[in-house]
Amino acid sequence: MLAGKTIILGVSSSIAAYKACEIVSRLKKLGADVWVVMTRSATQLITPQTFRTLSCNPVLVDLFAPEFSAMPVPHIALAKMADLLIIAPATANVIGKLAHGIGDDALTTLALSITAPKLIAPAMNCEMWRNPIVRKNVSAIGGSASGGKKLKELKWRIIGPEAGHLACGDDDIGRMSEPEEIIEATIKLFAEKFDLEGKNILITAGGTREAIDPVRYISNRSSGKMGYALARAARARGAKVTLVSGPTYLPVPADVEMIKVESAAEMMEAVLAKQKDADAIVMAAAVGDFTRNDELPITNDEIKLKKIKRNNNKLSLTLKSTQDILQIIAQQKDRKNKILVGFALETDDLIKNAKAKLKAKDLDLIVANEPATFDSDEIKFSLINRAGKIDNLPKQTKTTAANLILDRVQAML
Ligand code: CTP
Repeated sequence: MLAGKTIILGVSSSIAAYKACEIVSRLKKLGADVWVVMTRSATQLITPQTFRTLSCNPVLVDLFAPEFSAMPVPHIALAKMADLLIIAPATANVIGKLAHGIGDDALTTLALSITAPKLIAPAMNCEMWRNPIVRKNVSAIGGSASGGKKLKELKWRIIGPEAGHLACGDDDIGRMSEPEEIIEATIKLFAEKFDLEGKNILITAGGTREAIDPVRYISNRSSGKMGYALARAARARGAKVTLVSGPTYLPVPADVEMIKVESAAEMMEAVLAKQKDADAIVMAAAVGDFTRNDELPITNDEIKLKKIKRNNNKLSLTLKSTQDILQIIAQQKDRKNKILVGFALETDDLIKNAKAKLKAKDLDLIVANEPATFDSDEIKFSLINRAGKIDNLPKQTKTTAANLILDRVQAML
């Protein structure tokens, strides 16, 4: 039910932290990819190892955690991946920091930078909850116990606290809502659209690498972010997703079939093997246009084995054009049964060149963009359909753009 969703669970230092284990376990059972971020004091109550085991992901406690070395800035990388942030339990201290824009640890900095929806489950002593400063902080982050207008605008939802027996001995308000209720609220939050359920979508991402020798290669500046955003969004909307990706440093999206390739030829082989079952193919990859020429007095195996020496102070390489994957797919006999989406990256005459590519590659839709898009989290682009209709779209996050592109794909399907 939550397959394809990436959920960050923030755990702060209330004794209700033990109930967060149940939340992780339930979210996992529903198919979500769960990442836990803890405050340092919460680790006094429950160990990161418990959450690591339950979530099958490393747990972020410190901003500069060595186990997150694959993510250059872990709290930002997690914030970008997230479809939802839940803070359960949320202490008065964490709520106070959120209310005042304070980011002094991994959890609060992540909460400041995240744009996905947020759900907070406070847990504290009854007098703390009633304290006028805490009340003020709760309304500053947009909520009150019964919800409020500002809450929706700021994308914060609040659940609880409930009345009941508190760890401090009082029978009063302050208990964290039960994991079951938090899960229910989570499901409701996501119960938007599953409009790609039952569809197979093949997506390519990243740049390819063409080997010059065993250590050097020709590549391009593609980060893969657009293709990965498309894969995550398509999966979140219920599609079965195959992602063929050139080398990137991005985390593998949850619950997609991932095929890692290096060269344009490998990408073509993977795409051709998978295209038959696809209802839609979205070629977001920046496929290398040139590769080393086989006619050199050096064989393909030698390219992989023999490092070119610097002896002569200069080197001439003969390159030949790679095969156009999209064009080859467009020539398959079952072309009519699928939707083909291409990207056009242009420095000049964006719309004119994109239109020409749409026609030459027999596409249903082309996403025209400029090199400024490379490695950015945002994209400004135009969509051009088969009939030549152009929609110029404003700069937006790649996640939002991915959903817009998928809206078009869905309508054509
Ligand atoms: N593409 C492809 N196979 C290639 C090159 C590109 O399938 N060998 C796809 C890309 O994934 C993209 C579209 O074709 O969806 C356009 O890619 P782009 O690099 O903009 O254009 P090219 O066709 O390579 O033309 P040029 O580099 O001359 O602009």
